[in-house]
Amino acid sequence: MDEKMSHPDDSAEATRRDFFRIAIGVLGTVVGLVLAIPLVGFLVGPAFRKKIPRWARVAKVESLPLGQPAVLSFTDQSSEGYLRETVVRNVWAVRRSATEVTVFSPICTHLGCRYDWEPNSGRFLCPCHGSLFGLDGKVLAGPAPRPLDTLPVKIENGELFVEWERFELGISRKIPV
Ligand code: FES
Repeated sequence: MDEKMSHPDDSAEATRRDFFRIAIGVLGTVVGLVLAIPLVGFLVGPAFRKKIPRWARVAKVESLPLGQPAVLSFTDQSSEGYLRETVVRNVWAVRRSATEVTVFSPICTHLGCRYDWEPNSGRFLCPCHGSLFGLDGKVLAGPAPRPLDTLPVKIENGELFVEWERFELGISRKIPV
């Protein structure tokens, strides 16, 4: 019987190769984790960040016409993840009394077009698919699945503040995006 004799150097070499294989595997895993942590933070971090209201002062309440819609513009600091930008927003405000103002998002709840006020008919009209909304935001006609979206408002010292928000489109429930 021909038996192969193993040399002591062979087993030492095999042990060294195993050690390096394991060491490279561990090092690769550590490097992968270190690289993944910032990426996970970027993707998941904003979801856990506490939402801070961004109130924008838009007008003096007394300057708004009673029972008529008015377009108001303001500058908003928007943020997506870690990106920040300054955007000019337009909203529709309807003053209902000396201390009550309803503010509508300018985005049609159907598919997101900008609607306009039709003074002759006293309704909001979306030019894209013909949705009509009343002064109270209710759907009067067309494919819009829900009333116009109202935005959070507050009045302080006679000044109207609005918080910009976006909502899911094309569905009957008002769900913030
Ligand atoms: Fe306004 Fe379709 S986007 S009716």
